[in-house]
Amino acid sequence: MREKLLIANWKMNFSVIESSKKSRQLEVLFEDKLQNRMQNKKNKSDVKIIICPNYLSLKSVHDILGGKLYLGVQSITHLSESEGAFTGEISGALVREFAEFAIIGHSERRNMLMETNSEISEKLLFCSKNNIRPILCLGENQETRSNDSHLTYVINQLRNSVSDFKEWGSLIVAYEPVWAIGTGVACEPEDAVQMIRTIRKELKIISGSDLIPVLYGGSVSSSNIGVLIDSGDIDGALIGTSSMNPLEFHEIINICTKMWGK
Ligand code: PGA
Repeated sequence: MREKLLIANWKMNFSVIESSKKSRQLEVLFEDKLQNRMQNKKNKSDVKIIICPNYLSLKSVHDILGGKLYLGVQSITHLSESEGAFTGEISGALVREFAEFAIIGHSERRNMLMETNSEISEKLLFCSKNNIRPILCLGENQETRSNDSHLTYVINQLRNSVSDFKEWGSLIVAYEPVWAIGTGVACEPEDAVQMIRTIRKELKIISGSDLIPVLYGGSVSSSNIGVLIDSGDIDGALIGTSSMNPLEFHEIINICTKMWGK
């Protein structure tokens, strides 16, 4: 059975004080599930809930939620796996003290910071070296979808990002169409499923494994998560806006755990 994951991407939001406040709210809301997480740390069938705050807030969130929910970061540097003269950068080795996961290749970074597939492939290797599980983001923009070349585009993104990668047991992939991120308009479930099946087929060819979880991201909310995961092809979600409201995030998780528990 493939793992199920629900990931909160808080992006560049929340001061340290606000992040701590949100973490305390989550701690209360997730009380029942936290005990689960503590008792079944290695139970693969459990839904993994992962919070990705900004770097500055990571330790404070860890002080409250560490060992209860999982923590991730939103990127790591491609310049070094450890330490050195790389002003302003943060390495996998530095975040590993607090985070077990890292979002890699989010479209906001690909588009606004010109992050390339080759940098992304370096980051994936540095995740492996530091025992961090990468959440590799893939997705096409509106123009590519309108041209009907989105399937080929995303598969090329995947191939170029994982060209040197080998730690298949650690990889998580998130399909996030750029046009659906932060717009309030999610991908139609059948379109998301079509892409996710295509990604899974390619992953099987590249890695030999069909157990790599593939998630959906882009305007996920408590009103659309049910239809998105209904077919059983989508192994969870990478959630921005809705994850920043602890009540809404909790509601999404309740819907998923009920559906997956059946
Ligand atoms: P959104 O963001 O849920 O606000 O669309 C998703 C993401 O960027 O990962």
